[in-house]
Amino acid sequence: MCGIVGYIGNKTAVPILVNSLKKLEYRGYDSAGVAVLNDKSINVVKCKGRLSILEEKVAADTPQGTIGIGHTRWATHGEPSDLNSHPHLSNSGSIAVVHNGIIENYMELKEFLESEGYVFLSETDTEVVAHLIDYLYKGDLVKAVTEAINKIEGSYALGVICKDCSDKFVAARKDSPLVVGLGKDENFIASDIPAILEYTRDIYILEDREVVLLTQNDVKVFNNYGIPVKKEVFKVNWDVAAAEKAGYEHFMMKEMCEEPKVIKDTVNPRIKGESIVLDNINISREELMNLNKIYIVACGTAYHAGVVGKYIIEKLAKIPVEVDVASEFRYRDPLVTDRDLVIIISQSGETLDTLFALRESKKKGARVLSIVNVVGSSIARESDDVLYTWAGPEIAVASTKAYNTQLSALYLIALDFAYRLGRIEKDFYISVIEELKSIPQKIEAVLGNKEVIQKFASQHYNAKSIFFIGRGLDYALSLEGSLKLKEISYIHSEAYAGGELKHGTIALIEEGTLVVCPITQDNLVEKTISNIKEVKARGAIVLAITKESNKQVGKVADVVVTVPDVDSLIAPIVAVTPLQLFAYYMALQKGCDVDKPRNLAKSVTVE
Ligand code: AGP
Repeated sequence: MCGIVGYIGNKTAVPILVNSLKKLEYRGYDSAGVAVLNDKSINVVKCKGRLSILEEKVAADTPQGTIGIGHTRWATHGEPSDLNSHPHLSNSGSIAVVHNGIIENYMELKEFLESEGYVFLSETDTEVVAHLIDYLYKGDLVKAVTEAINKIEGSYALGVICKDCSDKFVAARKDSPLVVGLGKDENFIASDIPAILEYTRDIYILEDREVVLLTQNDVKVFNNYGIPVKKEVFKVNWDVAAAEKAGYEHFMMKEMCEEPKVIKDTVNPRIKGESIVLDNINISREELMNLNKIYIVACGTAYHAGVVGKYIIEKLAKIPVEVDVASEFRYRDPLVTDRDLVIIISQSGETLDTLFALRESKKKGARVLSIVNVVGSSIARESDDVLYTWAGPEIAVASTKAYNTQLSALYLIALDFAYRLGRIEKDFYISVIEELKSIPQKIEAVLGNKEVIQKFASQHYNAKSIFFIGRGLDYALSLEGSLKLKEISYIHSEAYAGGELKHGTIALIEEGTLVVCPITQDNLVEKTISNIKEVKARGAIVLAITKESNKQVGKVADVVVTVPDVDSLIAPIVAVTPLQLFAYYMALQKGCDVDKPRNLAKSVTVE
């Protein structure tokens, strides 16, 4: 989704803005722009398309000035075009605004501003913000922005410069991410930390409705009543290299190769001796005993991790679990009560649908435990308990390593709850912990064998439609495999429970249809083999993913990719990697932009 940056300091703003915007490219965008203040005038350069086009434009004639804002736009209101790109200027040229989010009452505000003589040039909701601030500005930019955000409904992260303010600019946020970077003789704003990590590691994380005044040597934060707010500095301790490609062709490949490490980072520190110790989760045994139900709520890949979570929590802890897509959960008036626990899963911690589902759950009295990757994100801050996944920055739009760590976190939770409730034996508890600890090594082996998948992809990348089938946890895995393939290779794909295929979808299987089939559940091997035979009988080509010791599958599938032997219960953490590799190589063969697939955004901050 849209990315915002802002700079004030003693250097020329444009190169810093463009460099920071590059670090936000992963969020997804279709146009880009910058606005720079120089000598009482605001110079805007913006255009449809990739940042390289903007770069060429500013290289030809670099706007001078040491205060500026920049933006990458992911179109919501109005098509991608030069005119709809941000920054937006007020008619007088006094105010320039960049915005991430959606102004829900923009029609109403637009009518009012038009009645005041403002002329709208773009189709965006953002333009009302520029005109509104212009209308409210009477010499105090903080006051004008504060008054504006009190009139705006919806979500926003805003960066605002004003032609009369040669020593400051202002930012604000609600429901869209924004951080402030504190430098020496310079200060920054950005939608996400990687954008400014090259310049500073000292960050203010903004709360909803906070307004920030940035000057070269100072940053002041106010609430929406204009009262100063004291902020704590958050020190970023991860390496700049963590957000760089480090020699890999794509972030996605780099991030898959990081899976063994990040699983270790997520699991090992939480194992003390023979026990799981979940720091920051303060749910007592008594509270667990009294739980009525667990809801797992998330979107996309995180939702698919939740589907695995349902299987394992029910199996181990014997607590009923409902898993729901966040955008549906919020509006279906779920029967959540104060006797329920809601587990929220999110890599970014900023997904708006998920954040709103969290708030809905809290409103209904439930306790909220979140599994989040980004420290200090909105979801982390608003949850009662947080279990961080230590996946590090995930830049490729297609989530890979975050999913493996989300699963790791869910296994830790399921095992911890089950053991504390006395629903599993100590020996079993210890053996699964040992198995979890062995996962990184097993994924190393899968990554070491990726050529088999690469070769298969080189032979089948022209497939028009691919089906994923699986039973039990392999069904949950199929959902994720299918999503991964769709989002980066643009090949139509569907995931089905193996047993469900014959109830309709098998009609689509014909000579040459590709079927991908994970088979890692020991108790379901025979049944899944029957499903493979059913599709083979109708001409399908089957790629199976199974454990090394499972020799039967080779007799029915066309190609078999093996993973090291692993307990069926935790097999998804290992078996997802071949599915991610499959999507990657299919997309690569097709010449797709693997890291930045069309139409998609990394952090989905609109509903
Ligand atoms: C994953 O590959 C997707 N890009 C997407 O489905 C993502 O998982 C979803 O938008 C949720 O994001 P979150 O984990 O940051 O909340």
